[in-house]
Amino acid sequence: MEAVRLVEVGARDGLQNERLTLSPQIRVQLLQRLADAGLQTLEAGAFVSPRWVPQMAGSDEVFKALPVRPGVAWTALVPNLRGLEAAIAAGCREVAVFAAASEAFSQRNINCSIDQSLRQYQQVLVRAREAGVSVRGYVSCVMGCPFSGPVKPQAVAAVSASLFGMGCYEISLGDTIGAGTPAATRALIQACRQVVPVSALAGHFHDTYGMAIANIHTALEAGVRVFDSSVGGLGGCPYSPGATGNVATEDLLYLLDGLGVRHGVDLDAVIEAGEFIGAQLGRPTASRVARALLAQCTMA
Ligand code: HMG
Ligand code: MG
Repeated sequence: MEAVRLVEVGARDGLQNERLTLSPQIRVQLLQRLADAGLQTLEAGAFVSPRWVPQMAGSDEVFKALPVRPGVAWTALVPNLRGLEAAIAAGCREVAVFAAASEAFSQRNINCSIDQSLRQYQQVLVRAREAGVSVRGYVSCVMGCPFSGPVKPQAVAAVSASLFGMGCYEISLGDTIGAGTPAATRALIQACRQVVPVSALAGHFHDTYGMAIANIHTALEAGVRVFDSSVGGLGGCPYSPGATGNVATEDLLYLLDGLGVRHGVDLDAVIEAGEFIGAQLGRPTASRVARALLAQCTMA
């Protein structure tokens, strides 16, 4: 099987939902450690309202402090043109816009309807193209909404097609509440690949119900080759009550190693980065693989 690309979202999706707000300096240290481990695409912050997500305040300082590293893309979430301009001013060369497949979630997360968000993103894409900034697109609630329940694959496909049509180079399918199962994942990918090439689809699985690894395996079999993950399984979503973190990067690497799939990332170095950030947050890792391997080190 050809190589898989990982998008490390711990410093954004992870930290945006932690009780403690970490300083930009600590966030930069985490990102540097993760890049040292071989991760090449890293979400480093979000240019959103600090009233809505205080944990991401100071993202401009994070970007200003991050060095240019050949082969490494530091990326940011932006909800509107204002966020894009702030990201560009901070030196960011790649952003992500985030729409939802559920109206209720769109209202709670970004205070507007799906259609309104897509119209705003159209403007973001035009301006980003002018500025030479690449744009990734997220679709949230792809296998269920915390407020309105079931979401049809066709609804996800429609939003994915809009984002891809306006110029997003990749569409990341977000199981925000981690409720998906392999069967639902298969149906989801089948619907989305009718409108977006499978090579431009990514999987973004939260692990709330413990299904993330099974869903990733299913998505791999369906041809997806890009996955988002979070060191130590950090994270969740502030507007998705009860959602836990993304699949842990360590667990994803262990799966890929077991399947013999190339990824270019050093598992031990990611575990060390997870230890570093866990100590800052005062919380143990949520990665089963990190826990198992760390326990073996203690016994040795
Ligand atoms: P609003 O209240 O409708 O907008 O928020 P507004 O235009 O009335 O502005 C409200 C305030 O925000 C104003 O400031 C604006 O200046 C400011 P105030 O007068 O109150 O001091 N503002 C901004 N500040 C900084 N950066 C900006 C910006 N824009 C306006 N870009 C808004 C609309 C979109 C701003 C708000 O709803 C928001 O920031 N939401 C962010 C929500 C968020 O970050 N959610 C988590 C990320 S999504 C996610 O995690 C899912 C994902 O992981 C995939 C998955 O798992 O499914 C991606
Ligand atoms: Mg997420």
